[in-house]
Amino acid sequence: MIKPTILTGDRTTGSLHIGHYAGSLRNRLRYQDSHDQFLLLADTQALTDNAHDPEKVRRSVIEVALDYLAVGIDPTRSTICLQSHLPALAELSMLYLNFVTVSRLARNPTIKDEIRARGFGRDIPAGFLCYPAAQAADITAFKATVVPVGEDQAPLIEQTNEIVRKINATAGGEILPEALAVIPKSGRLPGIDGKAKMSKSGGNAIQLSATPDAIRAAVRAMFTDPNHLRVDDPGQVKGNAVFTYLDAFDEDEAALSDLKDHYQRGGLGDAKIKSRLEDILQSLIAPIRERREQLSKDPAYIINIIRQGTDRAKERTEATKQEIIKAIGLFQL
Ligand code: TRP
Repeated sequence: MIKPTILTGDRTTGSLHIGHYAGSLRNRLRYQDSHDQFLLLADTQALTDNAHDPEKVRRSVIEVALDYLAVGIDPTRSTICLQSHLPALAELSMLYLNFVTVSRLARNPTIKDEIRARGFGRDIPAGFLCYPAAQAADITAFKATVVPVGEDQAPLIEQTNEIVRKINATAGGEILPEALAVIPKSGRLPGIDGKAKMSKSGGNAIQLSATPDAIRAAVRAMFTDPNHLRVDDPGQVKGNAVFTYLDAFDEDEAALSDLKDHYQRGGLGDAKIKSRLEDILQSLIAPIRERREQLSKDPAYIINIIRQGTDRAKERTEATKQEIIKAIGLFQL
């Protein structure tokens, strides 16, 4: 039986946090046996908004690979590969740019949000504006049909499928499959300050490598319900970061539902809910942190995994590139 292919990945701009875990790492762990899974260390995409700091992008390749392995990605079942070393991805990106318009790129909701968040103003790096075409190249070069990602990535998969349809129409046949974004039910995990985006640079993230003290401090500082002043006051669950995190990580649904009722009735203090969350996060992160520490002692082992994965990915992506060039009818030598 041929397994369906997964391609997903992360920009290499720093180590990953528990938002990545809830958003997509957890799904990727589930798919390791049922799918042929490729994980892309997206260093060239990272450069689209970090051209001023290639050193960070370079260093983070190992950091992200360590995070993958530490959470339980098994290199014998999933293939970890490096974007900058897969020339077919760059070549397909250039090809696909002829099948999208500048205005469609600029209308992509993810791109719009990110341009605003980065304060590019009128000085948008061309590579940044065009990265949806590059991401389409990433996905289609593997002929991936499943893409586990956080919800912010959905518009990119939608745009990928538009490009797929155009390529197929030009080729006059179904040479590329459309891809399905797999997005977690719980939605995006906010930062500990309750703000929509968790990010290391925003100082509101809990890293997968966080120490016990850092986890404790983060949970203590976590945003709850600003109007829940006394224990006896009824509290709000919606918009309360502690409950959003419990929704994402507490596996005891019945206990959680009781806890919410109690909080909403009044009589349950923030310290109690925070202590439950802290226990859950400490036991989630402890084995990840320990494995990460072990693995980080042997960078040659990590590099070897990336090298082998990239070799495997190269075969696959080169084959697809040749097929596409032929199918759309360019000259063959
Ligand atoms: N855009 C993703 C991120 O921000 C990284 C990425 C690059 C990706 N290529 C991809 C995700 C292909 C899914 C599929 O981290």
